[in-house]
Amino acid sequence: MENILIVDDEDFIRQNLERILREEGYRTAVARDGKEALDLLREAPFDLVFLDLRLPDISGLEILKTIRESDPDLLVIVMTGYASVESAVEALKSGAYDYIKKPFKADVIKLIVKLALETQSLKREVLSLKIQREGALGSRPFIAESRAMKEVLLQVREVARHADTTVLITGETGTGKDLVARTIHNYSSRANRPFIELNCATLPVNMLESELFGHESGAFTGAKGRKIGLFEAASAGSVFLDEMGEIELGLQAKLLRVLEDKKIRRLGGTKLHEIDVRIIAATNQDLPKAIREGRFRQDLFYRLHIVPIHVPPLRERPEDIIALSNHFLSEYTKKFSRSFKSIGREAEAFLQSYRWPGNVRELRHVLERICIMHDAKVLGPEHLPAELTPEVHEANSALDPICFPIPREGFNLEEMVDRFTLRLIMKVMDMTDGNISKAAKMLGVPRTTLRYKLDKYSTEAMSPAVK
Ligand SMILES: Nc1ncnc2c1ncn2[C@@H]1O[C@H](COP(=O)(O)OP(=O)(O)OP(=O)(O)O)[C@@H](O)[C@H]1O
Ligand SMILES: [Mg+2]
Repeated sequence: MENILIVDDEDFIRQNLERILREEGYRTAVARDGKEALDLLREAPFDLVFLDLRLPDISGLEILKTIRESDPDLLVIVMTGYASVESAVEALKSGAYDYIKKPFKADVIKLIVKLALETQSLKREVLSLKIQREGALGSRPFIAESRAMKEVLLQVREVARHADTTVLITGETGTGKDLVARTIHNYSSRANRPFIELNCATLPVNMLESELFGHESGAFTGAKGRKIGLFEAASAGSVFLDEMGEIELGLQAKLLRVLEDKKIRRLGGTKLHEIDVRIIAATNQDLPKAIREGRFRQDLFYRLHIVPIHVPPLRERPEDIIALSNHFLSEYTKKFSRSFKSIGREAEAFLQSYRWPGNVRELRHVLERICIMHDAKVLGPEHLPAELTPEVHEANSALDPICFPIPREGFNLEEMVDRFTLRLIMKVMDMTDGNISKAAKMLGVPRTTLRYKLDKYSTEAMSPAVK
């Protein structure tokens, strides 16, 4: 149901308009003056505003300008008394959608509102299509075939309009959280300002803190000169805090304060600096569980959870599997000058029944590898990697030792285990785009251990014993 805000200081006008609009089934809210109007606009999303140009406190034009800045998509119809057509023209120039003269007739109001809301919904539809076609990064489409992803897209579009709203994106690894964050930024009024990303899992806590808040000269040993933190550097833009679930409790408390006050203090500094950023956080962790286990602050969760966007795992949206496969296939066919034109039925079925633990990222890598290693017109099951084909499918992995090629002449167990480990590590490295911290977590080993193994295998991989 559409939400309409009526701003007028005259009781009669407000009541009259409210009655007409409610009869038509719209939801309404009323404000008697400018301040009340701005408060309401900050709290709830509206689809349309009726705005009297003459208000007791703030001028209607001023409010119009504020609305245009914070939510350029929101339609505003200004209302003027008999003698002030000039100010109505002024309002139209400043971006009002239309104006009506008081007193007005119910029929006229009904028609204007109907047309305005139709325009509004068409505009939004066009934006959805634009995002699907162009995506966040120029001509890289944002694929959304399934109902679930279309729903995500709707949320992205809505939250993009509200340039100050904090967003929390959740979802398994590789589902598209990054893409969602960038899309929100690129379709918001902050698009021309910086989008600054920080992976909270990769920095030790004291460095993370100075990255975020900056520091004054001499704040700690090694702090040479003053440094501006991300919140200040992203001025008027967006800060993307990836892997938010990894932040240590002390820093969580500081972040909570930043979210509440929109002010920061540089490390070693005394002055508070106002910041103007939108915060987009993402995590692949189950935060409610982290809260129960005492690893994540409940109050911070609520503060972030205002607009939650959950990106479902790929296995729950089979329609997207095919759309994404076709998209990546054509991308890599072009890149590697292949002749793939389509995906065969059988291959499609395999793609759809695989579990995709690494989600879209894994799918992208599979298609990339197919294009590197094979060429044909139609992509068939013979091109698919072992883990997607049915015999191995049961075990859900090519890493099953039974399927591992065993040399006829027998083998050395240790060497075999090494090869197996290497394959396992390589697969997980693929799934995490080469991110060692993430890979280490998936493998359940300390980062240093993984580093060591990677170094070890990369030197050994040079020798023919281990491939
Ligand atoms: N809907 C989509 N349309 C097109 N490409 C997508 C879509 N979703 C994800 N991708 C692509 O899949 C890859 C992984 O996505 P992304 O990096 O956004 O995942 P993520 O959820 O941030 O993963 P992680 O939890 O590991 O950080 C990227 O190459 C991204 O462009
Ligand atoms: Mg990511």
